[in-house]
Order: sequence, then C-alpha cells, then structure tokens
Amino acid sequence: MTTRTIRHLTATELRGRRALVRVDFNVPLDDEGRVADATRILAALPTITALCDAGAKVVLLSHLGRPKGAPDARYTLAPVAQRLATALSPRVVQFLPETVGPTAVAATHAMAAGSVLLLENTRYLAGEEKNDSTLSKQIAELGDLYVNDAFGAAHRAHASTVGVTEYLRPAVAGLLMERELAFLGETLESPDHPFVAILGGSKISGKIDVIEALLPKVERLLIGGAMACTFFRAMGFETGNSLVEPDRVDMARDLIARAGKKLLLPLDAMVSPSMDDASRAHVVSREAIVSGEAMFDIGPESIKLFSAEIERAETVLWNGPMGVFEKPPYDRGTRAVADSLAHATDRGATTIVGGGDSAAAIAEAGLESRLTHISTGGGASLEFLEGKVLPGVAALDQG
Ligand code: 3PG
Repeated sequence: MTTRTIRHLTATELRGRRALVRVDFNVPLDDEGRVADATRILAALPTITALCDAGAKVVLLSHLGRPKGAPDARYTLAPVAQRLATALSPRVVQFLPETVGPTAVAATHAMAAGSVLLLENTRYLAGEEKNDSTLSKQIAELGDLYVNDAFGAAHRAHASTVGVTEYLRPAVAGLLMERELAFLGETLESPDHPFVAILGGSKISGKIDVIEALLPKVERLLIGGAMACTFFRAMGFETGNSLVEPDRVDMARDLIARAGKKLLLPLDAMVSPSMDDASRAHVVSREAIVSGEAMFDIGPESIKLFSAEIERAETVLWNGPMGVFEKPPYDRGTRAVADSLAHATDRGATTIVGGGDSAAAIAEAGLESRLTHISTGGGASLEFLEGKVLPGVAALDQG
C-alpha cells in the first residue's frame, strides 16, 4: 500500500476546485516578528505551484507555535503570508485573519483559479489539538479536496491533519510529504550498503527507539553528543559534570553488548569546566574526563573515526548534533560531520538528515544543497524513524 499523492489526481479533479492544503509553516520568528528561517515555507512551494498551475484554488492551513486554543497575536500567520508572497511573487497571496466559519468559506469560493489564500493559525481554535469532529467538519468546508503536505506535523492527530479527512475526500499527500516518506521511509527500508547512522543530541531516552529500529539495518551506528556520556558511564569511565542519564546507564550497557562492533562511540572529547568558559576548552581521551569538567563536543580522533566511516558508506542517516554546536569551539564535531556528509553525497552516496538541530547545523554551514535530503520534520521524523505509523499519513488515501 502506498499513500496517494496529488500526482494521482486528474486535471478535472483539480481545475477550478478548492484544494485545502495543510502545510507546516511552524517557522521561527525573529524579535521583530519576521520569519527567521523560511526553510519550511520554501519546502512547500512545489506542491503549491503544482496545484496553482493545475488551476486549483489553493487554500493553505497551518499551525504556528503553541497558542492555547485561542487567538494570540504572537502566533499570527500574517508574517508567514508576507514571506510566502515574496517566494511566490508575482503570484498573489491573500491572507485572512480567520481560520474557519462563513467568512473563511466565502473567501475560498471567491478565489480565482490558480490563486493562493492562507488562513489564520489552526491552533487558535480549541478543537484543533483535540481532533474535535465539529471543527473537523468546519475545516472540511474550506475545500473540495484535501492535501496534507505537513510532514512536520504528521505525528499529531489534530483536526486539520486527521479529523478533516473523515469529511473530505480525496485526501492525498503533497509533494513534500511524498519526498519525506520516500527518503525517510523507502530509502532507509532498503538502503544501499554500507548503511551508517550517526546519532547525537543530549539524551539517549529520546533516541532509544530510533537506535533499536536502526540497529538491525545498519553496518555502523555512530554515537556522539552528550548522549555518548551515558555510554561512557556504562563503560566505567569518569564523566565529570557531563550530562549523563543515570537511569539509562543499564540500557546503554545492554546496547553496547548487543550492538558489538556495529556501535562506535567517540574516542575523545572536548571538555571544559563550564560551557561558557571556552578559553579553558581542551581535548582529552574518553577515559580521561575528570571530575569538575564536562564534555561539550567530540574530539579530533572521534572526528577522524566518524569521517572515515561516513566516507565508506553508501547510505548515511544523521540525526542530532555532536556537541553544543551553537557555541564555538564546541561546533567542530558537528561541522565535521556535516562536511563529511557533503563529501559523501558528492561521490554518490545517499545522505539523509532527520530534521531539527542537525538540519539547522547543515544550514549554518551552508551545505543544504549538498545533501540528498534534509527532513523538515523534527519530532515527526524521529517518530517515523522509530517505525511508528504517523496518524497524518495513515489518514490519507492509500492504494
Ligand atoms: C514541529 O515544529 O516539530 C512541528 O511543527 C510540530 O509542532 P508541535 O511540536 O508544536 O506539534
């Protein structure tokens, strides 16, 4: 069974019809309230332009932030509409400060074929996160067909991602959703080998299900970030003030035993008495972390080891930074992994980044165009990699 996409719709199903498209425009805003990172907006353009070109009236719905089921000016989608208009220019983007109801429905009917309307934040409505059926019905009145392109929100069973599909069909995936499912799903299901996964970030607890899901498929699992320190503790090393999850040490010990040679941990660490005291940052081997110091990045020997593994791989999956990459000099490990992925892509490997912080690090290094796929999903990509069925995907037409 595959999820049906807008490619399965005929010209007559689209021309002059209202395509209600759920996008994930949950983007960061700067202090002036402008869009600080437009990646998610730009990622939705292929679907929006394909539908416009087919003569559909494109009605966009998204959440932004976490307003508590009521209007909150900090989370208006107005600045997103402006950024979208710039991206789609000369196509006009209309913004309506309403989400559902007679005014919104009338606006969707009044649209010209090939035009775009963005409605206000779905989370201004109390029923959204409850997947309320009355709200789902109201949302369904905004379109003649439903498209979900919000991969980043597909792990949420909300009225605009799941409930609406009870009342509006066809319900298909957009082109971004299709791409995300292809790379994070099919490609990693039957990867070209060697398949190397690199996981980082602070906690094992958030990644344990991903580790379990990947372990049978990979040749190598590289672990960096503060997460490595829980493994160090399991190996009996002193970890000083490093972030360790004491209740996961047994789990780490069990993983080390089960994974055998597949699991590679950092050989050395960049440590300092305090994260803010960069002048005292220095490299030690992993056995030599002392009390009063903490690991904030992987060290140069680890970078060499990890880069060599990535160099040999045909498929690489990366999720989670190797250190506190926002704070130099603790950005070296993360930058080196990003560089190695770019080189691997150049020689023909498939390189996939599972959203969130590692995607931000790639963007900061200016390497976005040199990787095969960078997911727009944070929590959604993790849940998908764990092998979970995403409710926003399951609700779509299959076949
Ligand atoms: C995200 O940014 O991961 C998605 O937009 C989902 O947002 P949420 O965690 O607030 O549901």
